[in-house]
Amino acid sequence: MDKKRVLSGMRPTGKSHLGHLHGIFENWRSLQDTYECFYFAADWHALTSEYKNPEIVGENIWEMFVDMLSAGVGTGKNAGHLFIQSHVKEHAELFLLLSMITPLGWLERNPTYKELMLELKEKEIHTYGFLGYPVLQAADIVIYKAQYVPVGKDQLPHLEITREIARRFNFLYGKNVLLPPDALLTEAAALGGLDGRKMSKSYGNAIYLADSPEEIKEKISRMVTDTRRARKTDPGEPSDCNLYPFHRLYSPKALQDQIAEECRKASIGCVQCKRYLTKYLIEGIAPVQERRAYYLSHLNEVKEIVHTGTEKARQVARKTMEDVRNAIGF
Ligand code: TRP
Ligand code: SF4
Repeated sequence: MDKKRVLSGMRPTGKSHLGHLHGIFENWRSLQDTYECFYFAADWHALTSEYKNPEIVGENIWEMFVDMLSAGVGTGKNAGHLFIQSHVKEHAELFLLLSMITPLGWLERNPTYKELMLELKEKEIHTYGFLGYPVLQAADIVIYKAQYVPVGKDQLPHLEITREIARRFNFLYGKNVLLPPDALLTEAAALGGLDGRKMSKSYGNAIYLADSPEEIKEKISRMVTDTRRARKTDPGEPSDCNLYPFHRLYSPKALQDQIAEECRKASIGCVQCKRYLTKYLIEGIAPVQERRAYYLSHLNEVKEIVHTGTEKARQVARKTMEDVRNAIGF
């Protein structure tokens, strides 16, 4: 039996951090065991907000694939197909056709749109392309007849619009051509950044896959911890501490338990706790960093993988477009 398909994309807007690694890439990697996976660089989507600096998008594409591969996405026996959105022109054709049937109200009411409008004020995104962002995203998804789309909570409205557009297409043209996809909500709790807010490039609070051990050490030393521990003698609560989730990811279980207990009794200080984390995080991330160094110095290999993935994606997209054109009667 054919495997069900998973598809997801990411805008190549900057280097990846631990939030991407644990929140996105690890999930994408494990989905490869069960599904046929397509993962792509959404460079056209990046252009909706970066149209004044298109070079940023181009430069970041390869860095992003290097990071993905280092995390095991697109590698191994059941490797997913990696590709570049703008290299599969069929997305643009389907985007155009779906634009015809998408009521403006669906786009104007989109909560993600409203939020981004505020967040990216300085980018001047009062554009037709940015309003149409979810239509392009719908095209990305339905063109692969993807059953599942792993995304974070912020993307749920886009998934809902995709489902509505697919249903409307099927309703208007009388065929079950497009499959309304289901979201696979990424469960991983968002990692906090150095300052305790969500880890994000725009907050300047991230630990990057590219950071050296010295940089990691320095960043951990600046991390906020449980604010109740103003003095070392004040007991703390690991579940309220920004640092503790990192221990859960990187430190041995016995140490995690020991820290939790000693933190609550104030018998360990945050400085010592950070020393432990520094050691285990640097050790734990090293294999990813080694693979990263490998792919960076073998970019041809990366390009070959993406080239093959793009060919595969194109094949599927072409087939869907035939069905789509037939359904409309073109
Ligand atoms: N909008 C997504 C994000 O910002 C990126 C994206 C574009 C995407 N097309 C997609 C995600 C299709 C899933 C499926 O994260
Ligand atoms: Fe957080 Fe560790 Fe300090 Fe407890 S001891 S508050 S877990 S950094």
